[in-house]
Amino acid sequence: MLDQYGRKIEYMRISVTQKCNLKCIYCDPDGENCKDSKDDSLTPREFEKVVRSMVEAGIKKIRITGGEPLLRRDICEIIYRISEIDGIEDIGMTTNGIQLLKMAADLKAAGLHRLNISLDSLKPEKFKFITGGGDLKKTMAGIDRALSLGMTPVKINTVLIKGINDDEVDDLIELTRDRPIEVRFIELMPMGSFGEDNRDKIIHNDDLIATRPGLQYLERTDKGSPAVYYQMAGYTGKIGFISPMTHQFCSDCNRIRLTSDGKIRPCLGNNGEVDIREALDLKADNFNQIVRQIILDKPKGHHFGADFTSSRRMNMIGG
Ligand code: 5AD
Repeated sequence: MLDQYGRKIEYMRISVTQKCNLKCIYCDPDGENCKDSKDDSLTPREFEKVVRSMVEAGIKKIRITGGEPLLRRDICEIIYRISEIDGIEDIGMTTNGIQLLKMAADLKAAGLHRLNISLDSLKPEKFKFITGGGDLKKTMAGIDRALSLGMTPVKINTVLIKGINDDEVDDLIELTRDRPIEVRFIELMPMGSFGEDNRDKIIHNDDLIATRPGLQYLERTDKGSPAVYYQMAGYTGKIGFISPMTHQFCSDCNRIRLTSDGKIRPCLGNNGEVDIREALDLKADNFNQIVRQIILDKPKGHHFGADFTSSRRMNMIGG
């Protein structure tokens, strides 16, 4: 369906848990929110009910996020229930890849089509520093397993931070030489105190592009994706640039978000959200009506300007 600004909303991101096994500096460095001690996450059945209603409103594409979605023991059931819904054309997941080596085959069997994997450094010590203790070998093994299972394209998400990992841009680009992957550089957003306090450490994607004449622009094929794609001549994979801070793409935004604790948040950079947990007991028609109203009311654009403070850290929304 169209929202009040005429955008066709077709894509829902679902955070299935706010728990995480990493503590990334730009997300939840003290790991407080990642513990999810309350654990008031929706059940697979409840996620299914919301997705059924979303499909009635025109959602075709789902991405499972977290926290770290692989920490949910019932993650395959969640994927399977969603994949069985008529009208769902695509299910992807964003993960840190730490547990992917052992889980990728089951995820694929449950109906998962695609994976985005967060990877902010190719140097073991720096990876450990950025992620608060993560083991780079595990994430790399997870990436290789996803590729060997034919889950292409595998997309890599890299958040660049000035003085921390911006020296690795070319090494990350090299990953695309022989692999069918997309490496995407995401500008640091002010979600949580690190991003809020380090606005001067945002790497502007335009500067990366301008200083690398080997990058060749690729025509946009998916208007719903915020990434603009380039490729190094002769390389197999692609390089994407996601620039929420320097190029607002809200007018093309086609997405809506569900948090693990049952709130629909129509915009990442806007604190408005609607609790739908109580409404889950309503008859389908009434529930559908509520969902349609929330989509209709999606705000026009994000508030990442200087005075924005997100009410949730990224692990509580899922990107
Ligand atoms: N700014 C930009 N990207 C972020 N991510 C998490 N926090 C931030 C932030 N503050 C990224 C993660 C993950 C994706 C869902 O969002 O690295 O890959």
